[in-house]
Amino acid sequence: MYNWYFVVTIIISLSLVDCAVIAKEDDVEEQGLYSKSDKVVILTQRNFERKVYNQRHAVVVQFYNSYCGHCRAFSPKFKAMAKDFAAWKPIIQLAVMDCANEENNEICRQFEVMAYPSLRYIHEQYIKGNGNVGDRIQMAETAEKLKAQVITKMQNEQSKGHLAFAPNFSIASYASYASALNDIPNDVTYTFLVFENENSTVGSEIALDLNDYQHIKVKRIRENSELGYIAGVYHFPGLVAVRSTLEPTNITPKNPSQQNLLKAINMFLKSKNYVFPSRDINHKDTIFIEHSDEKSLVSSSDIVYYADLEKTLKTSFTTEITRHKSLTGEALRSLLDYLEVLRSFFPARGNLRDYIIDLHTTLGSKQEWSGSEIYETVKRLEITHAPVYTSELEYIGCKGSQPQYRGYTCGLWTLFHTLTANAAQSPGTEGPKVLKAMHGYVKHFFGCTTCSEHFQAMATRNRIFDIKENDKAVLWLWIAHNEVNLRLAGDVTEDPEHPKIQFPSVSKCPECRSARGAWNLPSVYQYLLNMYKKENIWDLRRARSIAARSSPFSNLDIGMLSLLYIFCLFILILVIKFFLTKRFYRKRHYKHGRGTCRLRFAIKRLQNKNIFHNLISPWDEIVKRLRIVHLYSWHVYLS
Ligand SMILES: Cc1cc2nc3c(=O)[nH]c(=O)nc-3n(C[C@H](O)[C@H](O)[C@H](O)COP(=O)(O)OP(=O)(O)OC[C@H]3O[C@@H](n4cnc5c(N)ncnc54)[C@H](O)[C@@H]3O)c2cc1C
Ligand SMILES: *[C@@H]1O[C@H](CO)[C@@H](O)[C@H](O)[C@H]1NC(C)=O
Ligand SMILES: *[C@@H]1O[C@H](CO)[C@@H](O)[C@H](O)[C@H]1NC(C)=O
Repeated sequence: MYNWYFVVTIIISLSLVDCAVIAKEDDVEEQGLYSKSDKVVILTQRNFERKVYNQRHAVVVQFYNSYCGHCRAFSPKFKAMAKDFAAWKPIIQLAVMDCANEENNEICRQFEVMAYPSLRYIHEQYIKGNGNVGDRIQMAETAEKLKAQVITKMQNEQSKGHLAFAPNFSIASYASYASALNDIPNDVTYTFLVFENENSTVGSEIALDLNDYQHIKVKRIRENSELGYIAGVYHFPGLVAVRSTLEPTNITPKNPSQQNLLKAINMFLKSKNYVFPSRDINHKDTIFIEHSDEKSLVSSSDIVYYADLEKTLKTSFTTEITRHKSLTGEALRSLLDYLEVLRSFFPARGNLRDYIIDLHTTLGSKQEWSGSEIYETVKRLEITHAPVYTSELEYIGCKGSQPQYRGYTCGLWTLFHTLTANAAQSPGTEGPKVLKAMHGYVKHFFGCTTCSEHFQAMATRNRIFDIKENDKAVLWLWIAHNEVNLRLAGDVTEDPEHPKIQFPSVSKCPECRSARGAWNLPSVYQYLLNMYKKENIWDLRRARSIAARSSPFSNLDIGMLSLLYIFCLFILILVIKFFLTKRFYRKRHYKHGRGTCRLRFAIKRLQNKNIFHNLISPWDEIVKRLRIVHLYSWHVYLS
C-alpha cells in the first residue's frame, strides 16, 4: 500500500518537474524595462496568446517601447501599481510588451499601438481576432491615479456583466442596516460598509484587498444614503463595520484614505480577536500578570483535565443520549458508534471503562429503545459499576469565568480531540472512525441545534467522510474547530477570559506557524497529539499540586526526576543493546544484503513517519480551500 503510494508520488512529482520546464519556456524572466520580479507578466510573441486570450482573469497590457524616454519615466509608476495589484492576481493581472523588440512587432501592429506607452484592458475569456484589440485605458500622471482608472474600468466592466467572480463593486443607497445586509451570505461575520461617492474607487479597492478572506464582505454605499445619517458618517469615504447580528460600529478614521481605512479594518478585526494571534498573546499575558493566582495559571494553559472529560461523558450519557422519545435505525447506530469509539479510545480510568463496555453491549442488544429505557440503563449500570467517576465532576479546564460560558460544549470538543488523538496513536487507522462517530453524535444527540446544523454543513463542505488516515482525522477536527472559533470570535457566547483564537496560539506553539505565517502542519499535528494524548491528561491531584506549587518537591519536579530516571534507563538499554548488536554484527558481518535491507527499512520508516510527504492529496485541497494560509498571511500582509 505504502509502496504503491510512494511510486505514485514519485511519478506525480516527476510530471510536475516536467510541467515546470514547459512553463519556464513560456515565462520570460526579463525583457526591456521589466523583469518578472516587478510582478508583471512579460509578454512576447511566443507567449502572448497563452497569457492574454481565454484567461480566467482580466489583463491590463502595457505596450511600450524600451527606447522611448517617456516609457522609461513611466515604468516606476507602473511597477508601483503592479505591487498593489499583485494580491488581486486571480482577478486581474498586469502585463507588459516591449514593442521595440523585433519579435514582438507583429502583435504590436495587430493591436494598433500608435503611441507608447499605451494601456489596454483585456477582459476575461477574451477571444482572438475580429479586430479585438482590448479597451484603451487613459494614461495618468501618478500610479495612484492610474490605479483608480483601472478600478473604474473594472467597475464599469462588472456593470456590463463581466468580472462576475470579483467582489461586487456596485454601489447603492439604503435606509437601514437590515436592507443593506439583505443579500449578504449567512457565513459572513462582518460586513464593512464603505460610504462614498459613486465615482470613488476606494471601496472597490478595499473589496479587492479583502477578497481572499472568508467571513468578510465589503459593500459600497452612496454617501448621501439615508443609512449614512443613521450610521453617523459625516466624513467620506466613511467606514462602518456591521456584525451579522446587525450591530454596527463606526470606524471611520480621521484621514480616510484607502490605506487608513484598511488599517481601521485591521484594528477592528484585531479588537474582535478575529483571526490574528497577536491579541491572544497580549491578552493571555495580561491575565497572567494581573492575577497570577492558581486559577489563571491553570486555565491559561493548553492542558486537558480528566475531570472535564468525565463531566462531559456524564452529561452526554444522562441528558443527551436519552433525549429521544424512541431510538431506532440510524440514530441508534450513531449511538452505538459513539459508544464503540469511547470504548476503544477513551483513556478511561477506574471502573469507567467497564461501565462503557457494558453500556455499549447492553444498548447493542435491542433494535429499539425508548429514551427513558436508556436513562434507566445508564443509571442501573452506573450503580453496577460504582464508582464510575473518579473526579468531582466539575469542569476545570472548561470552567467559564461566568456560569453562562463554556462548560459542556467545551468539554465535547475536548472529548473528541482526545478521541482522535488517541485513536491516531493506536494501531491501524481508526481516527476516521472517530470523526464518523462524532458526526453521528452531533447530528442526533448534541442538544445545541444550531451548533449541530452548522457542524453538519461544515462536515459536508470539508468532506469528513473522505478522511482515511489517522493524522488527517486529527487535523480535520482541528481545522473544523478553528473554523468554528473563527465564526464565533467576538460573539456574545465568547468568554472574555477565553477569547476565540486560531488554535494553538503563537505563544503556546511558535513552531506551529512558519515564518511567513502559514500553518506548519506537522508541528500542529505533534502539538495536538501531545496535548490530547492519554499520558498528558491531568487528574485533579496533579492540577492542584501544580497550582499550589508549595512543596519543595512539586509534581513538576517529580515529573522531571522520573523523566531523568527513564532517560537513564533508556541510555542503559541502548548501551547494552549496542554491545549485543556489536557481537551479533561481527558474526554476521560478511553475510549478504544487510545494507539494502537497512535502506529499505529506513525508507519504509520515513514513509510511515513522513505523513505529509504526498503534496498532492485531496487534503491539500481542503487546507487550501479553507485558506488557513491566507487567513494568517493576511495578518502579515495588513500589518
Ligand atoms: C460540534 C460543535 C459545534 C458548535 N457549533 C457552535 C455554533 O454553531 N455556535 C455557537 O455559538 N457555538 C457552537 N459551539 C460551541 C463553541 O464551539 C464553544 O464550545 C463554546 O463557545 C465554548 O467555547 P470555549 O471558550 O470553551 O472553547 P471551545 O471552542 O469549546 O474549545 C475548548 C478547548 O479546545 C481547545 N481548542 C480550541 N481550538 C482548538 C482547535 N482548533 N483544535 C484543538 N483544540 C482546540 C482549547 O484548549 C479550548 O479551550 C459548538 C460546539 C461543538 C462541540
Ligand atoms: C451587487 O450588489 C447590488 C447591490 O449593492 C445588487 O443589486 C446586485 O445584484 C449584486 N450583484 C451581484 C452579481 O451579486
Ligand atoms: C461621477 O462622474 C461622472 C462623469 O465624470 C459625473 O457626470 C458625475 O456627476 C459624477 N458623480 C458624482 C456623484 O460626483
